[in-house]
Amino acid sequence: METLQINQVSKVYNGKISYKALADISFHIQQGEFVGIMGPSGSGKTTLLNLISTIDKPTSGEILINGKKAAGLSKRELALFRRREFGLVFQDFNLLDTLTVKENIILPLTLDKMKLSLMNERVQKVAERIGIRDILDKRTYEISGGQRQRTAIARAVIHQPALLLADEPTGNLDSNASRSVMEMFESLNQEDRMTTLLVTHDPVAASYCQRIIFIKDGQLHNELRRGDHKQTFYQEIINTLSFLGGDSRDV
Ligand SMILES: Nc1ncnc2c1ncn2[C@@H]1O[C@H](COP(=O)(O)OP(=O)(O)O)[C@@H](O)[C@H]1O
Ligand SMILES: [Mg+2]
Repeated sequence: METLQINQVSKVYNGKISYKALADISFHIQQGEFVGIMGPSGSGKTTLLNLISTIDKPTSGEILINGKKAAGLSKRELALFRRREFGLVFQDFNLLDTLTVKENIILPLTLDKMKLSLMNERVQKVAERIGIRDILDKRTYEISGGQRQRTAIARAVIHQPALLLADEPTGNLDSNASRSVMEMFESLNQEDRMTTLLVTHDPVAASYCQRIIFIKDGQLHNELRRGDHKQTFYQEIINTLSFLGGDSRDV
């Protein structure tokens, strides 16, 4: 079963000068895969995620999620589609700091007008799963960066989306917090079969994926698959990045 199909997708930004950010990109992601997207700064990674998550539209080509197209949906249908099919995790967490951890996690469910008792049940379950049960009543400024990202992950998976999308989720975290966040993505993928697509600059974070798709100048460059050893995969990622000319620190 294919969770995501990207078929000959291009994206041109029209401004004073039009700019082709993506050119004829095609790849598929199977259900249960954990895939990374890497490439130098400006290569089109965020553009690609925005197209997949339906925040923006491709100039040409088609994108299917579980065989369904977002193209042609009304604004309301699109909002619903986005909420149902995707879980989104960002570099800067995107949490509301006037709300508690629990309220942040529940937010997408309240939009769907879910019953309070059911929401409470769901939040307890996901908090237990993500290891943040003890901080549910805290405000987001009272918790660490790693805990904030875990909260964002809980919010992203509470409705069991078809696809979990993460854009530089470890970009604002120290190496310990990064590791624990990546272990959480890995565990959600391996144990709960959460299909995950991760954009990252960080070769350590990328080495948790099963497969990395490299893009450069808006085009697919090559793909790496992880074998049995994370360390070997890490070294292959480093080699590819240096070949691509994108420094891993050029955020
Ligand atoms: N809204 C936009 N309008 C015009 N150009 C854009 C816009 N968003 C991104 N770009 C350009 O498209 C290219 C790819 O950007 P982006 O997808 O953010 O790359 P990455 O995430 O890989 O760093 C860059 O050259 C960027 O300047
Ligand atoms: Mg980006």
